[in-house]
Amino acid sequence: MSDKLRCAVIGTGAFGTNHLVSLSACPRATIVALAESDPQRAKEAGERFKIPRTYSDYRELLEQPDIDAVTIATPNHLHAPVALAALQARKHVLLEKPMATASKDAVKIIETAKKMKRVVMVAQNFRFNRHTQLAKMAIERGTLGEVYHARGFWLRRNGIPRIGSWFTQKQFAGGGCTFDIGVHVLDACLHLMGDFDIQSVSAHTHAKFGPRGLGEFEWGKSAIDAKRTFDVDDFSTALLRTRSGKSIVLEVAWAAFTGNETREHGIDLLGTNAGLSLYPAKLFRNGPEGYEEVFLNQPKLPYSEDRIHHFVSSILDGTRPLVKPEESLAVLQVLEAIYKSSASGKEVRFSK
Ligand SMILES: NC(=O)c1ccc[n+]([C@@H]2O[C@H](COP(=O)([O-])OP(=O)(O)OC[C@H]3O[C@@H](n4cnc5c(N)ncnc54)[C@H](O)[C@@H]3O)[C@@H](O)[C@H]2O)c1
Repeated sequence: MSDKLRCAVIGTGAFGTNHLVSLSACPRATIVALAESDPQRAKEAGERFKIPRTYSDYRELLEQPDIDAVTIATPNHLHAPVALAALQARKHVLLEKPMATASKDAVKIIETAKKMKRVVMVAQNFRFNRHTQLAKMAIERGTLGEVYHARGFWLRRNGIPRIGSWFTQKQFAGGGCTFDIGVHVLDACLHLMGDFDIQSVSAHTHAKFGPRGLGEFEWGKSAIDAKRTFDVDDFSTALLRTRSGKSIVLEVAWAAFTGNETREHGIDLLGTNAGLSLYPAKLFRNGPEGYEEVFLNQPKLPYSEDRIHHFVSSILDGTRPLVKPEESLAVLQVLEAIYKSSASGKEVRFSK
């Protein structure tokens, strides 16, 4: 391997472009190719980022021997097939969230990565946010004492990625707001608590805005179908219990009449010695002068704030990335359990 990681991006829509921006700014990576099924988008990205080779078929890209790693930003239903093909072609893989649309495919990804001795990491960017890192450092220092409860929320007022795009169709997205944005707050909560061992999930989902054609915002570059299909959730709430006795409450909405203007998304953690809220990272505790609120700060963070730079360095330095694929599988299993619990009206219990 050269001293720079030779990378390619697969899917250069709204967020694949973000991958290209990130890789372009990465001193330890070079972008050698991209694959994008839309010819116009491929041309634009190739020209803008001065990428020498563009492919309309990702399988052709994966045949190229001079590519060390790929980042995948396709619609969700293609995460697993593209990741599996990339790993089989001996490429390291950075995969957009959610890891797959079904946990059985996430299991296959983990097995294939092990077999091919390649790195796979889901791009959970919340974990790399400066404030999440500050919070994790405080928890690891023991500032909060025992962390026994977390609340993660993301409540948008009008935030359904365009109705009729792949995002709002179960067959392409796997799920609605729970899969799209719930995955971020859930992953960050479990990461901060350092506990992915879930015992049970009780949940309820709704679809109150999308089916009425309401609550949209402009996101994503893929086509919209003529029927403006919306067959996923636009709200969900869940109570999780970990095997170690912690509790987590999630609330997620793509669209809702919410008064929450200043904090659209965030996490609150309760510990026996202090509480902590994000974003920004702020501590609540009893100080010498009474109850105090302290903004967390540190000049040096343990990880790069850019998840793609972290992925690149992990491969070049031979270190294990912060986001373990087994953790992403556990998150996906909870997302699936949210739908199962909502459909059955019962708690879903995970066997050991
Ligand atoms: N981490 C985050 O904060 C974040 C934010 C937005 C999106 N995402 C994730 O990024 C992924 C892409 O989302 P988006 O918003 O960019 O969607 P998008 O629809 O804008 O882009 C998807 C792109 O993939 C291309 N594509 C489809 N099939 C392909 C194929 N077979 N080969 C190559 N390219 C193909 C499409 O033409 C399109 O350009 C999704 O998984 C989404 O969940 C993550």
